Amino acid sequence: MWRATVLTLYPELFPGPLDASVLGRGAAEGHWALDTVNIRDFSDNKYGSVDDTPAGGGAGLVMRADILGAAIDSINHDDRPLLCLTPRGAPLTQHRAQALAAGPGLVALCGRFEGIDERVFSSRDIEEVSIGDFVLAGGEIAAMALIEACVRLVPGVLGSASSLGEESFEGGLLEYPQYTRPREFQGRAIPDVLLSGDHQRIADWRDEQRKEITRTRRPDLWERFLADGPIRRDKNKEPK
Ligand code: ADE
Repeated sequence: MWRATVLTLYPELFPGPLDASVLGRGAAEGHWALDTVNIRDFSDNKYGSVDDTPAGGGAGLVMRADILGAAIDSINHDDRPLLCLTPRGAPLTQHRAQALAAGPGLVALCGRFEGIDERVFSSRDIEEVSIGDFVLAGGEIAAMALIEACVRLVPGVLGSASSLGEESFEGGLLEYPQYTRPREFQGRAIPDVLLSGDHQRIADWRDEQRKEITRTRRPDLWERFLADGPIRRDKNKEPK
């Protein structure tokens, strides 16, 4: 079973949204599981503090290496990678989520305060991951986003594998627009092609839409798509 362990100062935030909808059902059916470790349990003082003032001065507090090290070492990793959620990490991608979903799970370390003593990173094999170029108050919501991105790809969690094949980022493009009833909404009709019953024309139209949406909204993805050539269907191939 795919497993996520979250190290956090706020275990009460979990599972939170990860227990809703398809993910909650997936957990109930035994496809994946979540557990938390309270970093505060590894504090060495009666106040339960886990942080201290930064060496060299400056604002805020830094999470202590000895306490985080003890919390990390208390976990049975079972070959699962250890990831730390931080805005200085490598941007999370669909490709990375697919690779993580295909493995045994992950261990996620959530930072708070101004940061984490750098020796935690230099002494442990930790992959630093960011969910975007903005700063959250802590890593918990970022860890939830990471776990959700992975778990929905774990076999059995989402019903239809084909709906995964056409979603955003698959093949390096964003997804095409969707329509459903009513046929007309406030003067706007569903594009004729989608009602034509001509599967080839529909597929071609959707392909064009994916390209146009990607080109106009995400020139960075579009440039890479052009450079990489035909759509990749091999999920295990690392994009350039
Ligand atoms: N912690 C704070 N901000 C973050 C971000 N953007 N991504 C991941 N973890 C974070």
